Amino acid sequence: MSEIAKALTTIRNAAPDARPRVGMILGSGLGSLADAVEGVSIPYAELAGFPHAGVSGHTAALTLGTLEGVEVAVLGGREHYYENGRADAMRLPLEVLRELGCDTLLITNACGSFRADIPPGNLMLINDHINYSGRSPLIGESTDARFVNLTEAYDPTLRAALLAAAEAEGEPLLEGVYAWYSGPNFETPAEIRMLKMLGADAVGMSTVPEVILARFLGLTVGAVSVVTNMAAGLGNENISHEHTKASAPVGAEKLGRIIRRYLVGLE
Ligand code: HPA
Repeated sequence: MSEIAKALTTIRNAAPDARPRVGMILGSGLGSLADAVEGVSIPYAELAGFPHAGVSGHTAALTLGTLEGVEVAVLGGREHYYENGRADAMRLPLEVLRELGCDTLLITNACGSFRADIPPGNLMLINDHINYSGRSPLIGESTDARFVNLTEAYDPTLRAALLAAAEAEGEPLLEGVYAWYSGPNFETPAEIRMLKMLGADAVGMSTVPEVILARFLGLTVGAVSVVTNMAAGLGNENISHEHTKASAPVGAEKLGRIIRRYLVGLE
């Protein structure tokens, strides 16, 4: 049996009737949304082919259930490229989400902002990205489906719905370009000045490979960043993973309300 078939069998045993429409990936310190889902949680360790997400601040479990009456599948943790050098580490989990019925994927992450009008504690709706790491999760894929069009990778209709949900919640939500920097070290101030000149508004260590994979799989994608710090050289916080984990919950609370409001609108 293939890994994906094994994972699906485990999921079907735990949640025979689950038919999620919306999938989510939760970033560092953003796991609280999974707790709000009424349903079952399956640790990645029990799911064949799932990553053993080793980064603190992530809960490595797939949660299936309902949130605001909508069936969802929440990936509580991700494997980052910087863990094992695998840009396609999230391919199998995303294939599983699609097999279960998801047609939409909401991705969340923590980021460093370049913009004074999107300060720490605020959110940024990603409207485009710069793959500064230069790695594609589709290297080695041999079908013509690998030539993925990323012109509107961050779906305009979904973005409009998320903006409307933010407005309804009274939360500012500005759009911007996310640059993927491989990590795990943070960037230098010179690198941030360069990324800013290239047209980025924020930087982080995830999301981009997942967006590419999700578009490859035909999923509609939306992504929101929680700003945990001003990027290197732009603020006076001491940038660290501890700081990211400690700061993420401020934005996570806002993001949770926006996602819930968006889900209410789907019914
Ligand atoms: N850089 C990269 N990734 C991040 C940052 C940052 O400043 N903050 C949170 N994740």
